Amino acid sequence: MTIITTIEDLRILAKKRVPKMFYDYADSGSWTESTYRANESDFQKIKFRQRVAVNMEERSTATTMVGVPVAMPVAIAPTGLTGMQHADGEILAARAAQKFGVPFTLSTMSICSIEDVAASTGGHPFWFQLYVMRDRRFIESLIDRAKAANCSALVLTLDLQVLGQRHKDLKNGLSAPPKLTLPNIINMMTKPRWCMGMLGTSRRHFGNIVGHVSGVSDMGSLSAWTASQFDPQLNWGDVEWIKNRWGGKLIIKGIMDPEDARLAVNSGADALVVSNHGGRQLDGAQSSIEALPAIVAAVGKEIEIHLDSGIRSGQDVLKAIALGAQGTYIGRPMLYGLGAMGEAGVSKALDIIHKEFDVTMAFCGRTRVSDVDSTILLKGSYPI
Ligand code: FNR
Repeated sequence: MTIITTIEDLRILAKKRVPKMFYDYADSGSWTESTYRANESDFQKIKFRQRVAVNMEERSTATTMVGVPVAMPVAIAPTGLTGMQHADGEILAARAAQKFGVPFTLSTMSICSIEDVAASTGGHPFWFQLYVMRDRRFIESLIDRAKAANCSALVLTLDLQVLGQRHKDLKNGLSAPPKLTLPNIINMMTKPRWCMGMLGTSRRHFGNIVGHVSGVSDMGSLSAWTASQFDPQLNWGDVEWIKNRWGGKLIIKGIMDPEDARLAVNSGADALVVSNHGGRQLDGAQSSIEALPAIVAAVGKEIEIHLDSGIRSGQDVLKAIALGAQGTYIGRPMLYGLGAMGEAGVSKALDIIHKEFDVTMAFCGRTRVSDVDSTILLKGSYPI
């Protein structure tokens, strides 16, 4: 049995334990996957400046994201189909996040519903991510359900008006629940932990949307369904309408350009997330860490800036903070942990990232998140 010490260890274990269709759904990007790869490799190009003989005794990784106290500047990103990586996946990930003291974001496309998660986390507030669908009455009902469940921030994703094609999903015939074809059955039989888990839960569908979007009883082919339901006409007027209807903290996700960052500021949002959706949407776009400095320079004094896409270690988190982000999100590191070991795996992922963040901050001669800035990085190793 491998001793798990890295996010990569969790990925390898998840690949063994999760059926291919769902593992591939998590571990893939769109088209050539060049942006997916750049998200990780661009972090590697950035170098730290090592400092010594600074008093490291008293250290804290605690900070805030949109006013919410967090144990470290990391939240769980919204990911669709999380409950297909592991039975009750969203509930388990929410519990792990709650125990660790970081926010959990529930996707519109989750398997466990808003109400399932609220009931299983004892009313502890979580964040809800909203996709904008054509049916505005349905959007209103999702917002109302998120309010009723005590969600403390709405994460509004703007980068999925159209779907970046992920070849693996098409080739695997991704659907939820999986179609019982012979190859799928054979593959699932080789994943006994997953099968046993799924037998033990009744949640098989998308808890927030099945039965609400007219005529939908299951998600046959996921990509075709998404293309038909998501609103290609989405615009900044809709953002304003959603902000007013929600009335609470609003985080706009999917900003990669300083001009869009300016529009996000104008919309009155509390924070924006520099994100290319983990390389799953516009292949050929910049990595998000490369896009961050220009956005910080344009609007960093006017709005809180978060970042995701490509974070695989606490060192990556620290680099994002050094370049001006106030918080980050992890998508795949959480999914790998969940697929590998359920709730314990998500806790493990958070623990790994936390330790790496804390110790690297110390190596750089800093003891508090508020003291981290770009001077901990080697000039010339990061984009300005
Ligand atoms: C996502 N992401 C995503 N984003 C969102 O706003 N709503 C969603 O339902 C999903 N679904 C989803 C599924 C899967 C399998 C992945 C990997 C990602 C994007 C996600 O929130 C986040 O932007 C990325 O995951 C960040 O990149 P890393 O951490 O996965 O590299």
